[in-house]
Amino acid sequence: MNALATPRRRVEPMIEGEYLFTARNFEQIATFLRAQTGIALTEAKAQLVYSRLAKRLRKLGIPDFDSYCEFIETSEGAGERNEMMAALTTNVTRFYREPHHFEHLKRNILPALIEKARSGGRVRLWSAACSSGEEPYSMALTLLEAFPDAGRYDVRLLATDIDPNVVAKARSGLYSEDAVSPIASSLRDRFLTREADRDRRMWRVKDEVRALIAFKELNLIGEWPMRGRFDVIFCRNVVIYFEEETQVFLWNRFKSSLTPEGRLYIGHSERIDVPGYVSDGLTVYKLAQRGGR
Ligand SMILES: C[S@@+](CC[C@H](N)C(=O)[O-])C[C@H]1O[C@@H](n2cnc3c(N)ncnc32)[C@H](O)[C@@H]1O
Repeated sequence: MNALATPRRRVEPMIEGEYLFTARNFEQIATFLRAQTGIALTEAKAQLVYSRLAKRLRKLGIPDFDSYCEFIETSEGAGERNEMMAALTTNVTRFYREPHHFEHLKRNILPALIEKARSGGRVRLWSAACSSGEEPYSMALTLLEAFPDAGRYDVRLLATDIDPNVVAKARSGLYSEDAVSPIASSLRDRFLTREADRDRRMWRVKDEVRALIAFKELNLIGEWPMRGRFDVIFCRNVVIYFEEETQVFLWNRFKSSLTPEGRLYIGHSERIDVPGYVSDGLTVYKLAQRGGR
């Protein structure tokens, strides 16, 4: 080799694997995801990003991550940008996850809300980041257990998520035998029906429950079209993936979506330390100024 020639820079793979994946690719994907969803990826997540997106490259027949990153910047890549977001978000959820929240709702909050509805008031609950629906259906079952004729009053749930795939699954209300196991059998038999899906025994949430819930795509850091306030907001196990600045932005934003007596339920590893909230139990908050119920 000519000693005077400029040495060619070797592109170091960040992760060893079938497709070349560099630190620059990681940075580009992480920057895109943060801007679109608020989710902050640290380098510790590089392996996870690689393995989830390698499946996309394989499916699309794209040879490496440089080409993939170029593709998602183009207008033809719009659909793939959504697929990428869906692949990189964590959708883990289950019925009655963090059961103490449903107990709190049932004992401390629902009695007054039922009273409000019966006297002609408007009652709204929101599962913000509902994933595949287990959370809003658990809220609806808790409500219906205490207030079986809720559907005859002005009582509605909103269930939203950024990922269109999980919103579609939530809307369909179809779950495996295993998934519905946390639901008490009396409630399950009353509000779900058995259904066979390609030889698998499944359970479908009945229409009377689904009719209470509007499922919508919504980005928590994007525009919120809702105008009315909510008596109950569950925003659990999503803000944990955001950087602190985005968390603070959201906690402040929820203040103007809560009724003065409203409650905000958050995930077990999340905390609110912005002014204007006071604790009302383990990872349950209310607005400070009116003192709550
Ligand atoms: C781990 S799941 C939590 C589901 C449920 N809240 C629970 O606690 O079981 C997180 C959900 O947040 C959604 N998500 C992530 N970023 C979001 C954003 N910016 N706006 C709305 N939803 C988002 C994901 O698609 C995913 O379904």
